[in-house]
Amino acid sequence: MTIDLAALPQDFLWGTATSAYQIEGAVAEDGRSPSIWDTFSHTPGKIAGDDHGDTACDHYHRWPEDIGLMRELGANAYRLSLSWPRVVPGGDGPPNLKGLDFYDRLIDGLLAAGITPSVTLYHWDLPQVLQDRGGWPERDTAEHFAAYAAVVAERLGDRVAHWATLNEPLCSAWIGHLEGTMAPGLTDLTAAVRASYHLLLGHGLAVQAIRAAVPRAAIGIVNNLSTVHPASDRPEDLAAAARMDGHTNRWWLDPVHGRGFPSDMREVYGVELPEREGDLATIAAPLDWLGLNYYFPAWVSDDPDGPAPHARSVRRSGVPRTGMDWEVDPSGIETLLLRLTDEYGARRLYVTENGSAYPDVVRPDGTVDDPERQAYLSGHLAACASAARKGAPLAGYFAWSLLDNFEWAYGYDKRFGLVHVDYRTQARTIKGTGRHYADIIRRHREGVAKAA
Ligand code: IFM
Repeated sequence: MTIDLAALPQDFLWGTATSAYQIEGAVAEDGRSPSIWDTFSHTPGKIAGDDHGDTACDHYHRWPEDIGLMRELGANAYRLSLSWPRVVPGGDGPPNLKGLDFYDRLIDGLLAAGITPSVTLYHWDLPQVLQDRGGWPERDTAEHFAAYAAVVAERLGDRVAHWATLNEPLCSAWIGHLEGTMAPGLTDLTAAVRASYHLLLGHGLAVQAIRAAVPRAAIGIVNNLSTVHPASDRPEDLAAAARMDGHTNRWWLDPVHGRGFPSDMREVYGVELPEREGDLATIAAPLDWLGLNYYFPAWVSDDPDGPAPHARSVRRSGVPRTGMDWEVDPSGIETLLLRLTDEYGARRLYVTENGSAYPDVVRPDGTVDDPERQAYLSGHLAACASAARKGAPLAGYFAWSLLDNFEWAYGYDKRFGLVHVDYRTQARTIKGTGRHYADIIRRHREGVAKAA
């Protein structure tokens, strides 16, 4: 698969991504309080194999080794998330200096290794104390989020320029409050819609807080978007696809772009939004970039009796799939990058996550050969470069994930890493795809050097 590397900017960010709860472990160390994911993962039956993030990849202690791995890959950027319950264990109130010290050390280590940190404030690990007070369905949570944003921006803003507020708010709202398979595990449409509103309000308030503390900040939001296709050309399926597009894509993009919440979806949900004057302007605070997390396309048919948005995912046969049973379709990433450019006027884009899980084995010679993941990476990078060639202002790509890690309700069984983790020994092994990624990065750099 040829990747048109010359289409990518010379200062392209080649990164990997992780999130706090999925890799850090050390859940009861140095003053961290429980998050909703500690509670959820310790609730019997919620996670495959009853796994949890108590130790995860032990990154809290092994971060110097993990920075070494990033260097070995040749990456020049790293997307991490901060753990709110580690930094502000009470949810609101005084910061935990030991928690901040950890991120200080990590950021300094990254910078010393020549790796640009890209910090995400919220990757789903709400402090449990705030959930006990109502969580995202309550407005206070958005305000506490902004206060937490101010704390970390003030502490890290002298060294971190690249900030994201939320990761995949769709998952927090729809999967956590409507489908119930992620924390906090609710199946309540009203709570889900209210949560979606307060997540975006919290995003806007956090943008203000970061701007106030870090004048040079480049701020964005990270959404997991999908291309949505009707399963047939029946009018009912076409309408279902439009609703699923509203649910997955437009609900998250329109308000942030000053277009308000899509009226067709307000009707589909039939839930009153907890709107106050000025909120929409706050939510639409100007951004410097948009983050796209892309994994698979959606194919849907009408499902009038199912939950909102009354559209059912259809599993197509005869197409390649990853170990998550997700359809592989690299053209989707190109379509979405161009949609963000053309329909939403994006001025800077990052692919903030993209990757695949396959059942890896460490061979007797100590290597991990993962040709399917390698093909997934090449195919998607080729599609990214094609989007860039057609005008998408793509400034970086963050492979999901640096390490195999805690894959939420799937536990440790699903491995997305460029680096294999043996959870018994915590031994790290760079997989074939990690080497392949390093090679692509090197070739891009050589092209840049030649052009200079
Ligand atoms: O592991 C997750 C990540 O936390 C958010 N985006 C999707 C990944 C793979 O499911």
